[in-house]
Amino acid sequence: MPYILLTGGAGYIGSHTALELLNAGYQVLSFDNYSNSSTEALNRVEQLSGKSIVKVTGDIRDEAALRQLFSEHQISAVVHFAGLKAVGESTQLPLHYYDNNVAGTVTLCRVMREVGVKKLVFSSSATVYGDAKQVPIPESAPRSATNPYGQSKLMIEYILQDLVQAEPDWGMTLLRYFNPVGAHHSGQIGEDPNGIPNNLMPFISQVAVGKRSSLSVFGNDYPTPDGTGVRDYIHVVDLARGHVKALQYLEQHNGIEAINLGTGVGYSVLDMVKAFSTVNQVAVPYQIAPRRPGDIAVCYAQPDKAKRLLGWQAEHSLDDMVKDSWRWQSQNPDGYKQA
Ligand code: NAD
Ligand code: WQD
Repeated sequence: MPYILLTGGAGYIGSHTALELLNAGYQVLSFDNYSNSSTEALNRVEQLSGKSIVKVTGDIRDEAALRQLFSEHQISAVVHFAGLKAVGESTQLPLHYYDNNVAGTVTLCRVMREVGVKKLVFSSSATVYGDAKQVPIPESAPRSATNPYGQSKLMIEYILQDLVQAEPDWGMTLLRYFNPVGAHHSGQIGEDPNGIPNNLMPFISQVAVGKRSSLSVFGNDYPTPDGTGVRDYIHVVDLARGHVKALQYLEQHNGIEAINLGTGVGYSVLDMVKAFSTVNQVAVPYQIAPRRPGDIAVCYAQPDKAKRLLGWQAEHSLDDMVKDSWRWQSQNPDGYKQA
């Protein structure tokens, strides 16, 4: 049976997707340079599934390594997670972000084209909607970006659209993730950020476990019900299952489709803090801090297209998200590092 290649397969979303793919009967090959992950995540996926993963260390910008990868393994489709994702860092290191994300994707597509593998699921982001004028946000909303990370995702979307336009025998989905949170129900795999977390949920979890003293809530003067930012948080296992559905869709379809993966429901920062502390019976001290530059007030998905095209919709509740985040964090206070 051919492999599904996961670039960045050891990362947060990649590892959860690897598990769902194995559970659905696919064979998985991960290609990762471990710049933001470790092999331990994949070892745990193997334990959870009772199946093995082929793990290759390499960089998507390394054309020779990719050629070798495709020549040594029969690959039917690629799920392309590999990339850098820290918004703040991207403003400091724009060339690094464009090189990794944009040049890396171009190199990957060049090699895929050469070897005739033309099915690609790409990790895009709700960041491509910029500060959307209307919520819920449909896939047809105008696109824009305000930082190099967002620009890199936008550029890749344009590049992939041009490629499919030129060569209609490609099949691609641009999966626009909203805010992935949570962890596998086992507590064995989860998000393991380096240093101070940029994102809300890992920050809350680290405060709850005592690694950080309190959460700064970035702004309480937004035009939202409680004044704090509203986002569409989606359980990472739901998100992972969306990739399985996208691959099944590509088995039947060519062309390119942008598809939101979100729940369609928005929660505020204070909703998240409250849910986390109430459901898990743990204190999450916080204080109100100034707005974070570049943040928007409200962002949530119009998720109907995923249901219509992929037969997918989010199934996990907010309680599941905060419970599973806490199970992972409390069982692995130092992430994969203690292993
Ligand atoms: P992650 O950092 O946990 O995973 C990315 C993986 O890619 C890591 O294992 C990293 O080592 C690897 N990688 C990075 N550059 C590479 C390169 N040049 N060659 C090979 N491997 C490389 O991040 P994640 O949260 O799992 O995100 C996966 C994808 O989804 C990313 O493209 C990200 O931009 C996108 N995305 C993430 C979110 C989010 O909030 N987590 C939201 C929207 C989109
Ligand atoms: C969520 C809310 C913050 C941290 C980012 C990227 C986006 C996508 C997902 C990749 C906001 C507030 C946060 C904290 C806080 N990634 N917050 N205190 O900003 O919606 O999206 O991650 O594609 O591109 O921009 O997610 O988790 O950082 O913030 O008050 O310490 O929590 O202001 O309202 P965001 P986030």
